[in-house]
Amino acid sequence: MKVTVIGAGNVGSSCAEYIAIKKIASEVVLLDIKDGLAEGKALDLSQTSTTLGFNSRILGVTNDYSLTSDSDVIVITSGIPRKPGMTREELIGINAGIVKSVTNSVLKYSPNAIFVIVSNPMDTMTYLAIKSSGVPENRIIGMGGALDSSRFKTYLSKELNKPASDIDAMVIGGHGDTTMIPLTRLATYNGIPISHFMDIKTLEEVSAATMVGGATLTRLLGTSAWYAPGASVSYLVDSILNDQKKIIPCSVMLNGKYGLNDICIGVPVIIGKNGVEEIIEINLNNIEKNKLQESAAAVKSMNSSLKNLIN
Ligand code: NAI
Ligand code: 2OP
Repeated sequence: MKVTVIGAGNVGSSCAEYIAIKKIASEVVLLDIKDGLAEGKALDLSQTSTTLGFNSRILGVTNDYSLTSDSDVIVITSGIPRKPGMTREELIGINAGIVKSVTNSVLKYSPNAIFVIVSNPMDTMTYLAIKSSGVPENRIIGMGGALDSSRFKTYLSKELNKPASDIDAMVIGGHGDTTMIPLTRLATYNGIPISHFMDIKTLEEVSAATMVGGATLTRLLGTSAWYAPGASVSYLVDSILNDQKKIIPCSVMLNGKYGLNDICIGVPVIIGKNGVEEIIEINLNNIEKNKLQESAAAVKSMNSSLKNLIN
């Protein structure tokens, strides 16, 4: 199986690293526009194979799309990241042009690939990739909910002082500080509702910390995070390539589910060899429904700035 990662920056190289180390694909291609960057990262990474014990071939290329041909999955991370104080939404002007052009370039060589969109603002970039490429909707998936959910579960486990592996929780809605919706009501510790172990005020504090999880890291690092984003992409790619049918909150095109149309936003999805295999419509209470509608309105307003880029 072959995975191409467009953008060999922090997130792209972290994706490639986890995909190789976890033996998810036999071939990983890193492509970047900066001369030598992808080649350098690929060479460095490939030199960890004997000590870390994997055999994936890792190739780096500067803008040569022919070497990405026949990829099964394409991950798009190219674009600029957040700097402290910036929202993901402020990246739209530059990233929209980049995402549209790289999607179409890579598609020429891998017409049947499944796309995972990472570049921000991710929900809008996923929508743009679907609208501007003509690729069927089940084959373009936005990654954000997997990351936000992993942050939510980690904060819950820290607060409870219990193993993160025993915590299950999900974040839906837009991948933005004010648009994401940690589903506190459905979070569990080993199948038991989290509210059994945590009072509402603490649960709300954990939810608030999750929502600004990306901003907190951006403030600490001076740029946005990469370990958890790269790991979340690899989790998604694993479910696609190994047809694992995991339920992962992903940004996907909605045509009626949750009462929403013509929008990509985070909802629980079964991910397998066909990409989006099923969009699961869970019963939300009225508060959660209202939050999802508000989140969708904000994402739609962002999408409206794409007019000139969509055919
Ligand atoms: P970065 O700046 O480290 O890497 C981006 C790379 O894209 C650079 O190496 C750059 O040369 C390359 N690039 C730019 N234009 C290109 C083009 N036309 N073709 C090929 N490569 C091109 O940034 P980082 O930290 O890797 O973040 C990448 C994107 O992912 C950002 O938009 C960031 O906001 C987003 N992100 C999204 C997350 C999510 O959960 N959806 C999580 C973390 C980051
Ligand atoms: C993150 O959540 C900025 O989307 C990026 O870390």
